[in-house]
Amino acid sequence: MESMALRRSSMRQLQRCMRTPCPLYLDFLAPRLGQHTRRFASTTSEAPPSPKPRYVLSKQQREYLDSALRVNQAGEIAATLIYKAQTPQVVRSHPHLRPLMKHMYEQEAGHLETFNRLVAKHEIRPTAMYPVWHAAATFLGWSTAALGREAAMACTEAVETEIGTHYNDQVREILSWEADAERRGEELDEELKEMLGIFRRIRDEELEHLDHAVANDAKEAKPYDPLVDVIRLGCRTAIKISEKI
Ligand SMILES: [Fe+2]
Ligand SMILES: [Fe+2]
Repeated sequence: MESMALRRSSMRQLQRCMRTPCPLYLDFLAPRLGQHTRRFASTTSEAPPSPKPRYVLSKQQREYLDSALRVNQAGEIAATLIYKAQTPQVVRSHPHLRPLMKHMYEQEAGHLETFNRLVAKHEIRPTAMYPVWHAAATFLGWSTAALGREAAMACTEAVETEIGTHYNDQVREILSWEADAERRGEELDEELKEMLGIFRRIRDEELEHLDHAVANDAKEAKPYDPLVDVIRLGCRTAIKISEKI
């Protein structure tokens, strides 16, 4: 039921985007000319006026964020589906893992909610690959859990290694913009600062999942190396594709 609801909501979002032209840029990060748009005004009206001028992002930086949010939403959809497919099998043979699986799933569901909100707010086009990622993530979760607890944990280790690195790259990129802004005597938009905080928090939670997987014998999976290598390659490929499509 939950996955159907998720699917319906994402499909509705896709259909909305197909009916109305989706802006390429994040409005709140648009150049100064765009700062009087409704959304921008509504999101910053409560912030105290800053003594420093706002750092204006380049077209390339705005496109980077557009891709980043699309990929992050796609990744979190996949993460929730993987845990959803793994949990029944893992918990059936290892009931003591129920709280851990529930905890990780709930965190992923929270991440997805966050990116659904950001994607909708900034009118980002969700990935058109949604049906493919949906099928692939469900199959990955189901098949690794069928191989056993260790393989399920190795899947988490592989996915979280790639996703954690991916979020970390985004954090570093925004920090480099912050440093650039400081050099110019400017500062980042409040919403961008908030987004940086969100990326940091989610990165840390993904790395926490990675630690849980290793602590629960991910490295005992057989065959460990090919399994982890294939999943990591799949994640990197999905990220690259979702950046564009
Ligand atoms: Fe996540
Ligand atoms: Fe995660």
